[in-house]
Amino acid sequence: MYPSATLTVDAKAKALQAAGEHVIGFGAGEPDFPTPEAIVEAAVAACRDPKNHRYTPTGGLPELREAVAVKTKRDSGYDVTAAQVLITNGGKQAVANAFAVLCDPGDQVLVPAPYWTTYPESIALAGGQPVAVPTDETTGFRVSVDQLEAAATPQTKALLFVSPSNPTGAVYPRDEVEAIGRWAADRGIWVVTDEIYEHLVYGGAEQHSMPVLVPELADRCLVVNGVAKTYAMTGWRVGWMVGPVDAVVAANNIQSHETSNVANVSQRAALAAVTGDLAAVAMMRDAFDRRRRTIHGLLNDIDGVTCLEPEGAFYAFPSVKALLGRELRGRRPQTSEELAELCITEAKVAVVPGEAFGAPGYFRMSYALGDDDLVEGVSRLAALFGEAGN
Ligand SMILES: Cc1ncc(COP(=O)(O)O)c(C=O)c1O
Repeated sequence: MYPSATLTVDAKAKALQAAGEHVIGFGAGEPDFPTPEAIVEAAVAACRDPKNHRYTPTGGLPELREAVAVKTKRDSGYDVTAAQVLITNGGKQAVANAFAVLCDPGDQVLVPAPYWTTYPESIALAGGQPVAVPTDETTGFRVSVDQLEAAATPQTKALLFVSPSNPTGAVYPRDEVEAIGRWAADRGIWVVTDEIYEHLVYGGAEQHSMPVLVPELADRCLVVNGVAKTYAMTGWRVGWMVGPVDAVVAANNIQSHETSNVANVSQRAALAAVTGDLAAVAMMRDAFDRRRRTIHGLLNDIDGVTCLEPEGAFYAFPSVKALLGRELRGRRPQTSEELAELCITEAKVAVVPGEAFGAPGYFRMSYALGDDDLVEGVSRLAALFGEAGN
């Protein structure tokens, strides 16, 4: 097992920063905004109340599970009960729980690539076998039913689906979500659908929840979500899994032996978040949208770099293939990984190479950073790549 590449790049950037360098970090997948004040205040009050110094049930505070059910209906239209909700240590544990519940040894899980680096690892940890289904910019990094059908075998147990996508920023339109969901339902396979970026869509793009469009999928569908991206709460570690009650009970049993409940105070903060309004995410969405347009324009201005316009989340996924194999500062990077290494050492710019996402030849660049840093960072890359020889 490899360490999370996204966290590795971030750690390298932070180490250089600690040594006094002005590093521009496009690596981290987290909003640069503080958690909204009302949520922080709820946590402060929770800290002072001794009842929150204790364990909660493994599956979470009953009132938080209820609030997540209400929020799910409010935001995606998916009608679920509190018993179908498991509160987890971030969306990441919901992903791990989902595959732990679904996978028997030898079971295959289809994972459209480029994929978030954690999916294949958590499938493998659960004893399953990740099967990458490659996509590229010619289809907007979206997988088709035909590709899925071609990749499916009798061992296929589940499909991992995520929209908006990390790392590509792709958002599936309604008809494609529906077609994929219907295909999975007809084939009798499960879908793990990750909705953590549900509120971060731009322009005309819309997020659609698969089990809402394909209700017959509901008893074989696990939805992953959390507060991290919507409320700038990455450090609080609260996510959830929504699914059929028997799957939620099974995941609860696993979690009871692994991590027990999510920190009680964090759950109180999450309760304030999901029962509050969506003003903070609206403000962040405006900022991300502005930065999205900026980074998309600036990247495409660089010779050797091409980038699709991202429609969701907060990542650009430019191709750097045209720069590979060319002379640059006395080196000749052959892979996006080597080029990313050059970017951090020569330009003090941190990006995550596509290798981490099953897509060599690309960079993932988070635009959840300040506008000035964003422009400075891409300008440094433009200056560095401008030196590329033959
Ligand atoms: C697609 C996707 N799903 C889930 C997560 C998990 O987020 P967390 O564990 O911070 O809630 C992330 C975080 O980067 C993500 O990008």
